[in-house]
Amino acid sequence: MDKFIITGGNKLFGDVTISGAKNAAVAIIPAAILADGVCRIENIPNINDVSIIARILQQMGANVKMVNKSTLEIDPRHIVSPVASYELVHQMRASYYLLGALLGRFSRAVVAMPGGCDFGVRPIDQHLKGFAALGADYSLEGGVVNVHADKLTGNNVYLDVVSVGATVNIMLAAVKATGLTVIENAAKEPHIVDLANFLNSMGADVRGAGTDVIKIRGVTHLNGTCYSIIPDQIEAGTYMVAAAAAGGDVTVRNVIPKHLESITAKLEEMGVVVEEYDEAVRIVRDGPLSKCNIKTMPHPGFPTDMQPQFAVLLSIANGTSIVNESVWDYRYRYVEELRRLGAQISVDGKIAVIEGVRELVGAPVKATDLRAGAAMVIGGLAARGATQIEDIEHIERGYENIVEKFQALGADIKRISVLEQVSAKAAL
Ligand code: EPU
Repeated sequence: MDKFIITGGNKLFGDVTISGAKNAAVAIIPAAILADGVCRIENIPNINDVSIIARILQQMGANVKMVNKSTLEIDPRHIVSPVASYELVHQMRASYYLLGALLGRFSRAVVAMPGGCDFGVRPIDQHLKGFAALGADYSLEGGVVNVHADKLTGNNVYLDVVSVGATVNIMLAAVKATGLTVIENAAKEPHIVDLANFLNSMGADVRGAGTDVIKIRGVTHLNGTCYSIIPDQIEAGTYMVAAAAAGGDVTVRNVIPKHLESITAKLEEMGVVVEEYDEAVRIVRDGPLSKCNIKTMPHPGFPTDMQPQFAVLLSIANGTSIVNESVWDYRYRYVEELRRLGAQISVDGKIAVIEGVRELVGAPVKATDLRAGAAMVIGGLAARGATQIEDIEHIERGYENIVEKFQALGADIKRISVLEQVSAKAAL
């Protein structure tokens, strides 16, 4: 019920430090279920999706301890049942990684269908196809996925679509299977590589992560480990775009510039200056923005998770830009909200046509999902006047301390509880 209130128009200046990657953390935390000892995971982002997945493991019997604000210790040895209940699982998409992890450990998994952002149909057929190739049977009844194998045996799996989730799940199920599993047409996202590195640090034998062929030779035992998660590429991209939209000079720290190449390339095409350092990028924008076209693709293509944020930037660029969303069937629910700020966007299926306008003007809007919510924040920062964003729980699922980080850059943004708003009105 809480809201963000933003008064736009301030340019952004200074440094912002990026947290650990959400989509790596939500794969690596369930992967710890496969260990025979304690896993210490560092650079964990302090976001709701992480708390939920950690709570699920705890509910299942794991010992989960927050050692400091970004380090989590998980001792999974007390998990005795391969069942994850609906109550928490339905709150997030990545809870489907429990399927692969529990299957890998117990040869059985019973997990409610996951929740998460609504981009139209989100099938898991490729995950199930992978489990079946390893020798598992599955059924889907009453909203629960039940997977079972007498014995998991390595096999070749060709993914019909490049799927991050299926690649992760098959890796998790195969890592302790007997023999060699080869995933072809695998996803190549940085968090896939991070998961492979985490598993290898536990004693797994995973090769080729980051290419489209991943080979996993099963091992019988995985030990506990200590591992630090990569920085969040999408959080970094979001601050880069915010600096470009509001204008100013911002250095985004704790990043791997190579992971940001497709974002950097598009910003440069639009006339934004991007300087790359070893672990930082500096964004400078004081001139006009030029139109550009975007097509979302699996990594190393332009990430779908940056599409809504870029749509805001294109809305204030000179000229007409075309966005082609080729990953998700429907990822334009936010467009209606962006129009409230004065953006001129028309959508036909997977294509959005954006006519740049001179300025956006603040208005009340909603965060329709996580990245859509980030786009509303950027819109609010760039707009003239006040923007009020509702449904911010979507944003807080994936962005650590977003209000504080933007405030430190000079933005006029605050989080208010609805109670505060009611008492402020009463005082008038
Ligand atoms: N797909 C299938 N069958 C499957 C799986 C996927 O047809 O069995 C299709 C999907 O419908 C979609 C495409 O394949 O059209 C790609 O889906 P993918 O499985 O790669 O997506 P995901 O694993 O569910 C992850 C991220 C998303 C991100 C996508 C694409 C996590 C937890 N989520 O989702 O991130 O959009 O990959 O890069 O890693 C976000 O962080 O805001 C977010 C939504």
